[in-house]
Amino acid sequence: MVEPDPVLVNDWHAVVELEFLSTRGSFETVLLGVPIEISESGTGSGEVRVVRRDTGAPLAARIKYGHAFASLGEPDRDIVHFPECFEADRICVTGGSLAVHVSGLRAVENFLDLGHFPFVHTDYLGVEPYTEVEPYEVTVTEENEILATQCRFFQPLSSPGADGGMMVDYEYKVCRPYTVCLYKSNPIEPERWDFIALLVQPVDEERCVAHPYLAYLPHEIDAEALRWFQQLIFGQDKPILENQLPKRLPLDPRAEIPARSDASSLAYRRWLAAQGVTYGAIPAQAAA
Ligand SMILES: [Fe+2]
Repeated sequence: MVEPDPVLVNDWHAVVELEFLSTRGSFETVLLGVPIEISESGTGSGEVRVVRRDTGAPLAARIKYGHAFASLGEPDRDIVHFPECFEADRICVTGGSLAVHVSGLRAVENFLDLGHFPFVHTDYLGVEPYTEVEPYEVTVTEENEILATQCRFFQPLSSPGADGGMMVDYEYKVCRPYTVCLYKSNPIEPERWDFIALLVQPVDEERCVAHPYLAYLPHEIDAEALRWFQQLIFGQDKPILENQLPKRLPLDPRAEIPARSDASSLAYRRWLAAQGVTYGAIPAQAAA
């Protein structure tokens, strides 16, 4: 078995949706190749307990964003903080966890990709002939996060509350190798953004579970419609992702040009390589 990289072992990963956990009391899954069990630690305590199923050892566990999180190592930083998720007027919902037979790094890269909207999310997030991705800005911040700004795309139905097609502004932030989020302009409150985080659980190198968490402005939508829309969109992504070969993400910048290597994809691959992430990836020297 390939040993996961320290940066991943010591990070926090969402491992189960709390609402789902509460229907069962406990749940078995796999994190970075390690079988684990998550259980509610007591009636109404709102806490969870996570243990390795191979050794019985307890793991660091936390609750945030409607999910239980676990770490296989010793986390040296907290779960990523998204202030939008704590603004009182927003509708915050989990988007339904989806198992995908592909590296979680591929799932993150796909989340960053505007170019697939007209072809994969036809009549929702894109439509022909509006297929061109206009140039946008990609930077790495002082906090070592990738930030993509000034992204614009024409969307026929950008959210369940949308009233026809419109140009939508996007920003993306990659916070950790398996944690990414997007900000999307809202037609009613232009100074604020709708928000979606994608918390990706690396099951092993070629499998993941995508756990979305949404914090939307409360205009012409409700939690049920939001969740339904997210599941519809991710259901469209799943077969596309599962057909990608190789299932791990090649980090060599010469690989897969030009099909998916747009600016944020290239930045993400370079950023992963700089952090020494190899798990779920094909390192540059191995791909050459
Ligand atoms: Fe998609």
